[in-house]
Amino acid sequence: MTSTPLSDDRFNALIDAAADAILIIDHRAHIKVFNTAAEKLFQYESHEVLGKNIKVLMPEPYRTRHDDYIRRYLETGEARIIGKGREVQAIKKSGAIFPVELSVGEINSPDKSEFVGIIRDLSEKRAIEDQLLAEREQLAHVARLGTLGEIATGLAHELNQPLAAISTYSTACKKLIASGNVDDVDILAVLDDISGNAKRAGDIIYRLRALIGDDTAEQRAHSIKTLVEQSAKLAAPVLKAHNVTLENLVSDDIGDVFVDDIHIQQVFLNLIKNASEALEDTEMARRITISAHREANKLYIAVADNGPGIIAGAEQDIFQPFYSSKDEGLGVGLSLCKSLMKINDGQLTAHNNNNGGLTITMELPVA
Ligand SMILES: Nc1ncnc2c1ncn2[C@@H]1O[C@H](COP(=O)(O)OP(=O)(O)OP(=O)(O)O)[C@@H](O)[C@H]1O
Ligand SMILES: [Mg+2]
Repeated sequence: MTSTPLSDDRFNALIDAAADAILIIDHRAHIKVFNTAAEKLFQYESHEVLGKNIKVLMPEPYRTRHDDYIRRYLETGEARIIGKGREVQAIKKSGAIFPVELSVGEINSPDKSEFVGIIRDLSEKRAIEDQLLAEREQLAHVARLGTLGEIATGLAHELNQPLAAISTYSTACKKLIASGNVDDVDILAVLDDISGNAKRAGDIIYRLRALIGDDTAEQRAHSIKTLVEQSAKLAAPVLKAHNVTLENLVSDDIGDVFVDDIHIQQVFLNLIKNASEALEDTEMARRITISAHREANKLYIAVADNGPGIIAGAEQDIFQPFYSSKDEGLGVGLSLCKSLMKINDGQLTAHNNNNGGLTITMELPVA
């Protein structure tokens, strides 16, 4: 604030030097001052707008509402915008509407109030923001396409095998019938092979549909101990069939994780099923142990078994789609788990235990 009143010349020089558009309007909203930056921004010469209502610079709905704003303020002193910056739309002489940041102050002269408006063009800022957003969306799209491409490749590869088998068996079936020397038992055996392969193809598609379709997580706070208990209950038939004991060592006070419970139960089920299958040839008491510990804002949940573990160096490979060491395995279980963990802001890692068996560690955000 200056203590000496500014001369008109000094005042004009000052506001014309400003980078932002500056306007002064009287109590009837008539434009009294329109600086050089305002001329440039709104594309009007100042003589075209001086004395005109400020509404010429506003698009609808601000234009219609503006009289009400001023009247309300003069009558009640209730200010919606005065003293605060606000983002609004403005209109150029050409009719182009653009975003601006508007700050309004009141000039209290003894007779009538006047208002000063400082207007900053936000077009460029908005354009950059829009571009950034578009780029981010494009990147996400590319990433999604990458995953889809990977899935499609794996899907084609996997479906090829059962489809080829169906084709071979069908040809064999036709040959058998054409030979006239038909044994029902032989035909039924071939038909079994055909339907078995068709089912396998269906399983492959179904498992992958879950992977593609379910890409959003409803993350909420869930007790990790409860999630383990629920998963153990769901996995009970698998555990029983493989004669495996599951030990839940997660303590009550370990806290909550911020996850989609359905997704994490799916992950636990896959890990328990894999471990149970791995324990198939284990002679000693078959055991899966689930424990948890906390580090900063992450919870680490370890699912460990006392089976054979994995071949050294396969710690990353087992998470690849269609990696399987089992005759009947599709090899999609762990890749599905990895995707589910990722959309829950988590991770999955594997390492062989020193004393045998495998541990898969889940890293999840603390609620
Ligand atoms: N607990 C474990 N112990 C030993 N090997 C394991 C264990 N868990 C996973 N693996 C290895 O990782 C591979 C990939 O597991 P994944 O669950 O992805 O596929 P899968 O179990 O073979 O088939 P499916 O798609 O039916 O689940 C398994 O075939 C196995 O070789
Ligand atoms: Mg599996």
